Amino acid sequence: MKRLLFILTLAVIAAVSSCSNKKVATNEENKNETIMNTTMQDLLTRRSIRSYTDEVPPREVIEEICKAGTYAPTGMNKQAPIIIAVTNREVRDRLSKLNGAVFGPDNDRDPFYGAPVVLVVLADTTAAFTWKEDGSLVMGNLLNAAHAKGLGSCWIHRAKEVFETEEGKAILTDLGIDANKYVGIGNCILGYVNGDYPEAKPRKENYVYWIE
Ligand SMILES: Cc1cc2nc3c(=O)[nH]c(=O)nc-3n(C[C@H](O)[C@H](O)[C@H](O)COP(=O)(O)O)c2cc1C
Repeated sequence: MKRLLFILTLAVIAAVSSCSNKKVATNEENKNETIMNTTMQDLLTRRSIRSYTDEVPPREVIEEICKAGTYAPTGMNKQAPIIIAVTNREVRDRLSKLNGAVFGPDNDRDPFYGAPVVLVVLADTTAAFTWKEDGSLVMGNLLNAAHAKGLGSCWIHRAKEVFETEEGKAILTDLGIDANKYVGIGNCILGYVNGDYPEAKPRKENYVYWIE
């Protein structure tokens, strides 16, 4: 009788523990599904923002966005790109001037649309022959991560031209970056959205071709 009671107790414990494991698995599945849905939402709703408030986002948020950039895939995992996170107003303004000057010497509009933060992506052309693709994927991660963290962002081009100028090269040299190896990929401007959030333009037809 005692033996039977012992076996019954073991059976009850096993049943309860299997039930609770199942519950954890279900919660985990739900959590994963929510994360996936959120990721899809973020990818579909990110837009280029062209008006910002002056408020500088907290450093921890900018760090997280940069971290997402560093986790982009890179050819043969050579991690050819680098990110220069500029929150310093004076340097941000110098970069804006250099960027605008690519259009011509008399250009005085701010190509950064007032965004207080610029994440400049450059890539080491000697690290991997995929340096340009690697840098572009880092840019993509930065833009999407910024949106996921509630910030506005936009790819601003002409980083290549800016870091080919003597002033641009001097900024790299001051940071100990070899200006002869690194080429600018893009500027990810960041900040809080000022005004309405833009709607996505319709996608073109025949974007996706299927072979089934
Ligand atoms: C390689 C590249 C360069 C871009 N350069 C600029 C730029 O210099 N200035 C700008 O306002 N937007 C720039 N953009 C943003 C595009 O104009 C924007 O992604 C496009 O209009 C689609 O809008 P969406 O990002 O809101 O979907 C650039 C985007 C890419 C991918």
